[in-house]
Amino acid sequence: MAALWAGTSVYAQSTRLSEQAGNVVQTHAIPGGYAFQLDNGYATITAYSPTIIRVRVTKETPKTDFSYAIDDLTPHRSWIKAENDALTTDSLTIKITKTPFRVSFQDKKGNFLSGDDPALGISWEGPQVTSYRQMAPGEKFIGWGEKTGPLDRRGQSFVNWNTDAYGYAEDKDPIYGSIPFFIGVHDKVCYGIFFDNTRKVFANFGGGVDDDRYYFGAPDGDMNYYFFGASTVPGIIADYTSLTGRTPMPPLWSLGYQQCRWGYMTEQELLQTAKTFRIKQIPADVIYLDIQYMDHYKVFTWNQERFPHPKEMIDSLKNMGFDVVTIIDPGVKIETGYKAYEEGTAKGFFARYPGGKPYIGTVWPGRCNFPDFTRAEVRAWWGDNFKASHTDNGIRGFWNDMNEPAVLGGKEIPTVVEFGTGNNRTTLAAVKNVFGMQMARATFEGTKKDMGGNERPFNLTRASYAGIQKYSAVWTGDNRPEDEHMLLGYRLLNSMGLSGVPFVGMDIAGFSGDASPDLFVRWMSLGVYAPLYRNHTAINNRYHEPWEYGEATTEIMRHVIGQRYALLPYLYSAFYQAHKTGMPVNRMLPIHYTYDSAVYTDKYGTEFEFGDNLLVCPVDSKTMIADVYLPGKGTTWYRFSTDEAYPGGDSQFVGSPLTDLPVFVRAGAIIPEQAVIQDTKEAGDGILYLHVWQGATGSSFDYYEDDGHTYDYEQGKSYRRQIRYDPGARRIVLGKADAGYPTRFSKVRVVLHGATGWDNVQINGKTTRISQDQKLYFVEFNNSNDPITIQW
Ligand code: GLC
Repeated sequence: MAALWAGTSVYAQSTRLSEQAGNVVQTHAIPGGYAFQLDNGYATITAYSPTIIRVRVTKETPKTDFSYAIDDLTPHRSWIKAENDALTTDSLTIKITKTPFRVSFQDKKGNFLSGDDPALGISWEGPQVTSYRQMAPGEKFIGWGEKTGPLDRRGQSFVNWNTDAYGYAEDKDPIYGSIPFFIGVHDKVCYGIFFDNTRKVFANFGGGVDDDRYYFGAPDGDMNYYFFGASTVPGIIADYTSLTGRTPMPPLWSLGYQQCRWGYMTEQELLQTAKTFRIKQIPADVIYLDIQYMDHYKVFTWNQERFPHPKEMIDSLKNMGFDVVTIIDPGVKIETGYKAYEEGTAKGFFARYPGGKPYIGTVWPGRCNFPDFTRAEVRAWWGDNFKASHTDNGIRGFWNDMNEPAVLGGKEIPTVVEFGTGNNRTTLAAVKNVFGMQMARATFEGTKKDMGGNERPFNLTRASYAGIQKYSAVWTGDNRPEDEHMLLGYRLLNSMGLSGVPFVGMDIAGFSGDASPDLFVRWMSLGVYAPLYRNHTAINNRYHEPWEYGEATTEIMRHVIGQRYALLPYLYSAFYQAHKTGMPVNRMLPIHYTYDSAVYTDKYGTEFEFGDNLLVCPVDSKTMIADVYLPGKGTTWYRFSTDEAYPGGDSQFVGSPLTDLPVFVRAGAIIPEQAVIQDTKEAGDGILYLHVWQGATGSSFDYYEDDGHTYDYEQGKSYRRQIRYDPGARRIVLGKADAGYPTRFSKVRVVLHGATGWDNVQINGKTTRISQDQKLYFVEFNNSNDPITIQW
């Protein structure tokens, strides 16, 4: 009896343990691609371009198609043809094996890119679905959004479950955001995959398994991934962001220095802090209000005692050149008579338990309900609420916090809590990872509308999902004041950049405690090279403002923040590139040095390019001689601070005192700069400083300007100009300006670094004397929209 029982049990279980889709039974054409009836499922393969292929495998014929990340899911053209046992596009061959169903991708040269694991393919364990994939020898993985650990994800496993991660350890997973997109690199080929599933997605890039497979999957939902087969990493990023969207141009003021603290407790304190920047001549554009500005932490209210005159206060700050960014949390306090609570309740806008009772969780204001941001009408209501309390008072910046969503104590919210209506009804299990993104979307779309539709809001969020870049900048949450955390922070920013989100930053110089003076200096210097330059720390910590660490440090701060302001023309142009192509501002080195194994090592894996021409080597605050890697054989790199030249393709020991972070500029590069100003609204001296570093090969730079705060650029009201440096022809050419908007700079000064023997130059044929300032040659002339040639 016992033996029979055991035998039956083992047999009965083994058929249920896992299940595969089985063989292809039938194939037919569908709009944009092909569909496959399988023994145990249904698959579609469609193309969105010759290099973007979607694979969707479901147990049943799919009824609906929806994505939080991708606005337009319709394949508008047919890029795919069926040929023999393969599907082809102009760029890719998609091999289909029919018994059993397996898919693999090749480039047009026949190189294997990526494919199903032959034994396991796509498997289900109950509702859980997994794509098991072949892993090439030496394959490396980069991206997967806001994930801790080394740059190369090989050997690591992750879970996507947006989590409030106060003071997170350096290897904590998950933290705040989920972007299930990665790039695989092997054998001189690369490819990308975006697994568009919002549930508790898991991925294992070859950790804990043998060396030949990796996998990703989800506890429920479809196996629904997009394969990116562009032949370069920038091409893959461009394709990924063509689907999930690109950042709009941020307001120029949001690229200046941002001062935050939890919390500035009163109107007087906020005004005094802003004034101190001006008195001490330390440039800054933004000051923040954390939760103390609200009445009992109730969203869309002001604390009448601490901040009795919001409009006057904001006007005074504007007069000093400051914008105010205010925090906003999703939890709405349960309080009879409180407008947001009463309205949300009356309209049934809060997330609820089955049966309809709103879910209650405790956050700063006490017991709260949580808006169901998955619903368009809830997002619209949320957005409208900013008008009276925020935008009508002149606020243009919004900081979306606690939107994982988080309740106090880092406790889990029951996944049974319901969201959506009608066919879109679902539970937290399916939408936790998009809650924050949908809140940020509601804030962005609402405040844009509240400000009349043509003013750019600055929007910042903690939680994120793929596509967040359309709505918001992202910061990496409650980090620690530690060297290793500062370095981790840059890997997080770089990974976010690769994953489509260029506008990212971290709390400089650590949120959860006091930074040492040395760490403070190093972190503030590194912050110059973060897309979002924002200093923040928690309540009860020592003050973090640039002058709080003594006179000598204040002087260094004035200099480094000034450096940020000098670089704004360069940075703004980099943001335009991100807006147009998806190329991030902070570029991990594998983006352009994909097949150089040194850039994947733990030693050098934190380095990054900042825009087209700068290489930043983050160094901790204790290391005064740094081991840095300068990529690119044949490239010369100049130290940005001293113009000292170094050969690329090798590592170097370089001095890294606290006053001089190792930053390098590529020979032949052009970097547009401006004179230091105190805030981005200040006119400055009207001179565009074009720094050019002598090189064997030249370069071109796509220079961009616009009014810095409206959406008029979408109608062509922008100023664009290609600037070329051609060392062979001894020439710099400022191309004809596409001047839909006038430039701020009436003069141009070309500054040549590393040059010798200049006497005079011809500017549009006219001989002009050049000046010399120490080792630098420069020449200045009037700007005009017509081409300007500088010949020597
Ligand atoms: C959260 C945020 C932090 C903020 C604090 C108070 O911890 O991550 O930035 O200062 O809440 O609002």
